[in-house]
Amino acid sequence: MTEILHIDASARPGLAGIDPHGSHTRRLTHEFIQRWRAQRPDDTVRYRDVGLQPPAPVDAAWVEAEFTPAAARTPAMEAAIADSNALVEELVAADLLVLGVPLYNFSMPSAFKAWIDSIVRLGRTCDFRPENPPLERYVPLLVDKPRSVVLLSARGGHGLDPGGPFAHMNHLEASVRTAFHFIGITDIHTVAIEHQEDGGELLDASVRMAMAQTLNLADQLAARPLGQQAMAQTG
Ligand SMILES: Cc1cc2nc3c(=O)[nH]c(=O)nc-3n(C[C@H](O)[C@H](O)[C@H](O)COP(=O)(O)O)c2cc1C
Repeated sequence: MTEILHIDASARPGLAGIDPHGSHTRRLTHEFIQRWRAQRPDDTVRYRDVGLQPPAPVDAAWVEAEFTPAAARTPAMEAAIADSNALVEELVAADLLVLGVPLYNFSMPSAFKAWIDSIVRLGRTCDFRPENPPLERYVPLLVDKPRSVVLLSARGGHGLDPGGPFAHMNHLEASVRTAFHFIGITDIHTVAIEHQEDGGELLDASVRMAMAQTLNLADQLAARPLGQQAMAQTG
């Protein structure tokens, strides 16, 4: 059985194409999950809405607790990282992450960055080993089983994919990829809608293409038995 962690990060509730002013990324994650469930109804899907209920940003208490050895933490320190611990547990349990993350001002929404800051945790998802050679001091820990990420994005502009004329203004996929590689998750698939600000046929065509890519990705990944999902082709 595959455990899916479904996260939406758009500040907009509702689904584009269904609800007025709904979110395109929420629509893509919704379609992916529906497609998956139709094929694998016994798999579990855990849901986190970081767009509407953002994790707390890291603060002084969190940093103090994170950098205090677990055995030496006070109850107050444990409380400071309790929510972060819960997010880590969800991530560790997951085989597949389905993420709806819009492009906001050249990168990820702050709510999703707060989630990333909560799950990159020393001793839990990555480690720092000063005794190692210089290039091997940061060690990813989420290598106990194959995990895959499906990153479904949306942009107001266009030409923001690698090689596009505005690629230099898009730091979203690259930074999400870096964070997941850092903790040991390297099988990452991306799809994005563009032209949200243009609307009309430009947007419609982009939505149709992204929807087809998303459903195709769900089919590819769902067709593989647990443990082989890392072999799926990137959509
Ligand atoms: C705060 C904010 C910042 C944005 N910044 C960008 C941007 O830098 N580049 C871009 O192409 N679109 C930008 N957009 C447009 C969104 O990417 C677009 O509306 C997208 O559809 C949002 O995802 P959603 O439909 O899931 O809410 C921005 C939108 C918001 C609300």
